[in-house]
Amino acid sequence: MDPTATGLARSPSEVESEPVVEATPLTSTGVPGDDWWQRGVIYQVYPRSFADSNGDGVGDLPGLVAHLDHLGHGPDGLGVDAIWLSPIYPSPGLDAGYDISDHGAIDPLFGTDADFERLVAEAHRRGIRIILDLVLNHTSDRHPWFVSSRAGRTGPHADWYVWRDPAGRDRSGRPRPPNNWLSFFGGSAWTYEPAREQFYLHTFLTEQPDLDWRSPAVREAQYAMIRGWLDRGADGFRLDVFNALVKDAELRSNPTRGWRRRPWDRQEHRHDKDQPGLREVLCELRAIVDARPGRMTVGELFEGGPAVAATHTADRHLVFDFGLLEQPWAAPAYARAIREREAAFGPGRWPTVVLSNHDRSRTATRLAGSRGDTDEIARAAAVVLLTQRGTPFLYYGEELGLRDVEIPRGEIQDPPARRAGLAFPWWNRDQCRSPMPWTAGPGAGFTTGRPWLRLTPDSAIRNVEAQAADADSILALYRRLIAVRRVTPALNRGDQVLLPAPAAEVLAYLRQAGASVALTVVNFGRRPARFELSTGVATAWRPLVTTHLALPAGFRDGGAVRLGPHEAAVFVPTGAG
Ligand code: GLC
Repeated sequence: MDPTATGLARSPSEVESEPVVEATPLTSTGVPGDDWWQRGVIYQVYPRSFADSNGDGVGDLPGLVAHLDHLGHGPDGLGVDAIWLSPIYPSPGLDAGYDISDHGAIDPLFGTDADFERLVAEAHRRGIRIILDLVLNHTSDRHPWFVSSRAGRTGPHADWYVWRDPAGRDRSGRPRPPNNWLSFFGGSAWTYEPAREQFYLHTFLTEQPDLDWRSPAVREAQYAMIRGWLDRGADGFRLDVFNALVKDAELRSNPTRGWRRRPWDRQEHRHDKDQPGLREVLCELRAIVDARPGRMTVGELFEGGPAVAATHTADRHLVFDFGLLEQPWAAPAYARAIREREAAFGPGRWPTVVLSNHDRSRTATRLAGSRGDTDEIARAAAVVLLTQRGTPFLYYGEELGLRDVEIPRGEIQDPPARRAGLAFPWWNRDQCRSPMPWTAGPGAGFTTGRPWLRLTPDSAIRNVEAQAADADSILALYRRLIAVRRVTPALNRGDQVLLPAPAAEVLAYLRQAGASVALTVVNFGRRPARFELSTGVATAWRPLVTTHLALPAGFRDGGAVRLGPHEAAVFVPTGAG
């Protein structure tokens, strides 16, 4: 059929003259389920990889400010509602900034206080909020609190971290750790400090000691820091491993399970996370955030499925659910994950939709593996990410279909990846953290110097400039999807019902908010698939957005669609805006 009849096939000049979508106001409407952080799209910036302004090879805040139009609501923008910045605080950089030595300051690597102020002002001017990453569970071992705490048992910070006496001595006279807890990054979670003749706890690196959240002084100090960032214009916080903040009061050993590949998985983590005291901490924290209307929090769930995520989801507090991210590219697997999530969250809780972040293999690589149709799968995955119930979190570079970048052993930065081996399997997270390719030029427009991590080898063709000039690029698809999501109530706030699939490779779901209805159909397979559109809600539909501008001949065939391999489309009833 003639693709123009769908209203989708437009010439590049028509696309350029699309009306600029208005940014949502920065104030909250106060209508439940109608907050910007529920309806909006949140974009994760990994600051050291986004844009470098001073040629030191590391991204920085002025670089980000210079590229805000890529994210904003103008004709060249993605139209996101907020940016979540991975940590920008002073840090020795042993866990790429998640080891913080001063939670209240900006790392000079990224810029100055004035640069942060300018970022907030420039982002807000464009209708984009700023979400900071709060690493509350631990600090760097160079943090002055820990330096003071490890010096002895009597100083002002003596009890700020989780210290315990040894559980006796082993046969060679060495102190034994207080319990069997493990570090997620390998080895015991306990390190002995001779100055105190005690062990301290570190759920991650030895250089990342865990704070004791049962200490009122720790809470007060962290809350003061949070108020400080709110005063400086932060619109919300991503809470790193938030469900590990509170540990069992008696520090009991975890029950062990049978053999698993990862030592961490050989324990049931009953006592080192998800403790009852967490709720109280979250309530205190939320009270501080809620004192400023329109601010949000999202917790990073440290292991656990949708049921655990839903339990921790509270009024105005989102929780990442990594259920979708863990699925292979198969319609039944996605359907199961969506069903599980919907059952766990129910209509009363608002979920998140996450397909990638700075810890996981990028969507295109992860889902396509070594198959040749990587870009096609990246496009279909974009449709899945942006059409579900829940707040989508989009990781920088995904809008270009960026892939994981192979890092030779000698260039590995990620500390657990350096110690990886048979006894400690670990996926090198550097692979998903490569610098953003902006142009085809040297340094991909990311830096004039030597990038801190290798660039993607295809940056000469896969970059923002090239894709912005192509109305049918992956970037253009992301822009279309975000734009239609913004103006279609069914997509940004509607409920979600899975429809029976006519073929194993097809995923279809209906979203509905009052009179607004949208139907998404995704073909996960490599063969064309047919789908009957008549659902009872409407018999005649028209495509609102599809993975490519040019629709295949015979795309719409009466009340049915025929989708090509990895093709996806969003439909609205004919006559709907
Ligand atoms: C979170 C972060 C990860 C970091 C870890 C320890 O999982 O996403 O990057 O290594 O916390 O802070």
